Amino acid sequence: MKIVVEPARQPLAGTIAVPGDKSIGHRALLFSLLSTTPVRVRGLGDGADNGRSARAIAALGARVARDGDALIITGTGLRGMRAPAAPVDCGNSGTTIRLLCGLVAGQPFATTLVGDESLSKRPMQRVIEPLARMGAVVAASGEGGTPPLVVGPAAGPLRAIDYALPMASAQVKTAVLLAGLYADGDTAVVEPGPSRDHSERMLAYLGAPLTVAGRRTTLATRGWDGRLAGSGFHVPADPSSAAFLVVAALIAGAREVRLPGACVNPTRTGFLDAIAAMGGSVEIANRRDDGPEPVGDLVVRGGAPALHGCEIAGDLAVRSIDELPVLAVLAARARGTTVVRDAEELRVKESDRIATTCAMLRAFGVACEVRPDGFAVAGRADRPLAAARVDAAGDHRIAMAAAVAGLVADGPTTIDDADNVATSYPGFVAALRELGATAS
Ligand code: S3P
Repeated sequence: MKIVVEPARQPLAGTIAVPGDKSIGHRALLFSLLSTTPVRVRGLGDGADNGRSARAIAALGARVARDGDALIITGTGLRGMRAPAAPVDCGNSGTTIRLLCGLVAGQPFATTLVGDESLSKRPMQRVIEPLARMGAVVAASGEGGTPPLVVGPAAGPLRAIDYALPMASAQVKTAVLLAGLYADGDTAVVEPGPSRDHSERMLAYLGAPLTVAGRRTTLATRGWDGRLAGSGFHVPADPSSAAFLVVAALIAGAREVRLPGACVNPTRTGFLDAIAAMGGSVEIANRRDDGPEPVGDLVVRGGAPALHGCEIAGDLAVRSIDELPVLAVLAARARGTTVVRDAEELRVKESDRIATTCAMLRAFGVACEVRPDGFAVAGRADRPLAAARVDAAGDHRIAMAAAVAGLVADGPTTIDDADNVATSYPGFVAALRELGATAS
């Protein structure tokens, strides 16, 4: 599939219902499998990645029924899962496969996990290593510890470990905590940076014996009855999907673009801080708590005529890791240079996003230097970007970032290999049109 975008001829305007947060959606599905009570999940996004998690829990024994716009999930509890009849296909979804590794590590049966071409190249050693320390059996048959994976069977309870994560990764942290539910004792994870904390919030919400102290999370299962239970989750709008429309509004100009009910958990809003550091302004209106997550409406008015370059590094790079491709597009419209550091994790996302972000910007005539742990963008603020033909390399976030850049190019832009936009935001192109852009 390709996307074609025309330069925006008028300021963007409108209110868009951005789909449910992908990270929270995965967790709502996978954690509901562990619940001893039926869980009502509202607001789940329509992306293919969450669909993979939904099918995975069904294969493990959950009943998933639709009730209007909600799903009612009748799980199995910790101990009632059944062996899947066939390999579980995780598609393009790194979160599905890595979280499942932890979820099934303590089961008395083996589970085979497979993925698409991109997922089959992504590193799994990062979850295999701590799970092996816990006594779990995880075998990777791909080269260098890549999928397909066979997880389990576990001979008995897993071993509780105290684990210092080598990288800030919510997926690894969650895999260890999920396996820790099947260990006797205190399982602790310590991370080097503030990765998203949805698992901690949502597991505690379901009654897991979990405490967080700074960067250390401890799950103390001794004396716990092993019951997780809850009545429901509401999945807020995905800030990572909203980020594309926010940057579109900032660079193409906006009468008013409003994105209601987005998750504004601080571990996810690094992109808003980066935008502020570049001189852009995004209002968070109507802040409130929705279950375990804070939410708010993201509002952009008037665009951002005077952006300047900034540095995105350290904790800020962790808190904006999925938004760095679209922040690079914003940087392309800023005066001066924007430098992204401490973001080597970008190399192991759905594509090597250091390489693919720079290649995408260069296609638009923007100078972008590849660095080992990030990139440097030389802003092209005083003239339109050059209309481009971009290869999205099968990466949804590169495709959507390129479509946003196309709004400020000097002619029509074509983005090839963009099918995977459907993994996170199937309605993205329609949303651009709803805001007044010409895109197909
Ligand atoms: C995610 C964690 C992040 C993020 C990914 C979703 C999650 O990956 O990039 O899109 O839902 O836990 P890492 O855990 O590899 O940092």
